[in-house]
Amino acid sequence: MTDPIRAAELERIREQARACRACDLWARATQTVFGEGAVEARIMLVGEQPGDQEDLAGEPFVGPAGAILARALADAGIERSRVYVTNAVKHFKWRPAGKRRLHERPNATEIRACLPWLQSELALVRPRVLVLLGATAAQAATGRSVRVGETPGNVVASPLAPHVLVTLHPSAVLRSDSPESREARYQRLVTDLRFAAEHAGA
Ligand code: URA
Repeated sequence: MTDPIRAAELERIREQARACRACDLWARATQTVFGEGAVEARIMLVGEQPGDQEDLAGEPFVGPAGAILARALADAGIERSRVYVTNAVKHFKWRPAGKRRLHERPNATEIRACLPWLQSELALVRPRVLVLLGATAAQAATGRSVRVGETPGNVVASPLAPHVLVTLHPSAVLRSDSPESREARYQRLVTDLRFAAEHAGA
């Protein structure tokens, strides 16, 4: 059931985040890309930072990594409307390469500066399952260095949610160096998302 108070609070925070200047990344980004999804979602997915397309669209995971994530969610039997999707860092960090904008990994200061937004999202959504996509999200959310690991089921003990799972970032699937590795990585992502679905409850 929709909780209007929590939903309004999430909207208020989303509005505030539009003007965030807590680190320098805002200056070269088009806009803040805040999380998206229902406040009562039982599964929260956290990525690293918006990419080129997300920066332009103002929505998380709408580019190539988002296409992998959408397919993996569908293969795991999860409707996108059941999840809240966000990023550890909410501005696109990039460097120019000709006409292209190349993704750059956010540093510890930028991740720390952005953390209050993620903490607010967690406090309001209160997911049953928190899925951390890749090492940056895992580090940002848990405050410690967490290995993504090679196999599915990398559950970490954390007060952030009843179940906290670290899995591959969907862009790791795109970066695979062979079709076999790409398929194995994709299946790992799907297996972990199935785990999320099973532990999210009705
Ligand atoms: N990669 C991320 O980590 N987040 C996005 O929103 C898109 C790509």
